[in-house]
Amino acid sequence: MSELKNDCYLRALLKQPVDCTPVWMMRQAGRYLPEYRATRGVAGDFMSLCKNAELASEVTLQPLKRFPLDAAILFSDILTIPDAMGLGLYFEAGEGPKFSHPITCKADVERIGIPDPEGELQYVMNAVRQIRHDLQGEVPLIGFSGSPWTLATYMVEGGSSKAFTKIKKMMYAEPQTLHLLLDKLADSVIEYLNAQIKAGAQAVMVFDTWGGVLTPRDYNEFSLRYMHKIVDGLIRENDGRRVPVTLFTKNGGMWLEQIAATGCDAIGLDWTIDISDAKRRVGDKVALQGNMDPSVLYAQPERIRQEVATILEGFGDTGTGHVFNLGHGIHLDVPPENAGVFVDAVHELSKPYHK
Ligand code: CP3
Repeated sequence: MSELKNDCYLRALLKQPVDCTPVWMMRQAGRYLPEYRATRGVAGDFMSLCKNAELASEVTLQPLKRFPLDAAILFSDILTIPDAMGLGLYFEAGEGPKFSHPITCKADVERIGIPDPEGELQYVMNAVRQIRHDLQGEVPLIGFSGSPWTLATYMVEGGSSKAFTKIKKMMYAEPQTLHLLLDKLADSVIEYLNAQIKAGAQAVMVFDTWGGVLTPRDYNEFSLRYMHKIVDGLIRENDGRRVPVTLFTKNGGMWLEQIAATGCDAIGLDWTIDISDAKRRVGDKVALQGNMDPSVLYAQPERIRQEVATILEGFGDTGTGHVFNLGHGIHLDVPPENAGVFVDAVHELSKPYHK
């Protein structure tokens, strides 16, 4: 495998010195880019795009052609695992993801197996291999998965949800059923992420988009515990380098100490916590990723630069251990030029912090 030309993202995650703060954007490949919409049109639909290694690689690289980003992220989705478990993933225009066979009872959970990453999910590994080839060592490739809790919300609700009543009913009325499901998901995620690492992913991230809807007790029992199991089961070194793992619980700012205690390398932050408080609380234990509100990208260039400066100042002058990012995915109606202003501002304004 070729040497990395820009390893700033990996170095910052391991709290090693860097020349400037690395930056990437959650959902950096996607509908806000006209070239993405064109390639998706060629593929036909979103899942066909995920299943075509050449086209998945093409859309992964599109944002890197526009902006000097410090990492690429695999183009795929977190719902590939439940789809491979036989739940029948489909997307209805304007309504987000749906499952034709959601989990409704214990028998449903007992029926599902652990998908083979080089079997039903081989298309994901093929995309990883293709992207690594096409990247030619420019920047590292991030692999990812959903957290067991977040995957379970979609599997039990049958799609996106606002109140999470079905999964919370299972959690309070039939906790053993939910634990059985979460345990199967944790085992599936371990195999899936390790296969991504073997296929060429140089860092991995776990998206716990819905952990923040839980009480602190339930977060520990139903979400964090399974992410901890995943961290324990991951390959941590490959090809002579450490493979850093980032855990991101949206709305999880109250639980940073517990998240850091899993042994992850970095914590992803949304925008509802001040990064200076987060830094004070985790100290040197883990690196931090984040945490600009994605809606700032609707503003004028000067306002975007001001927000970047504030967050850099909040992280402070310890110089390293910060990966700049948005606190959640980029909105689909953001002008692409504004994303460029953001990326350039991070590189330019962070230089004084790295002397
Ligand atoms: O650029 C990247 O960040 C990599 C690709 C990526 C996608 N989904 C592509 C995608 C990643 C990392 C994800 C993760 C994902 N998927 C999460 C966790 C992160 C988060 O946003 O909280 C979740 C909860 C999902 C589930 C999912 N997939 C939803 C809710 C939707 C519909 C909402 C939407 O934005 O349309 C998807 C579809 C999806 N995943 C799209 C993309 C680019 C849009 C599909 C399209 O092209 O129409």
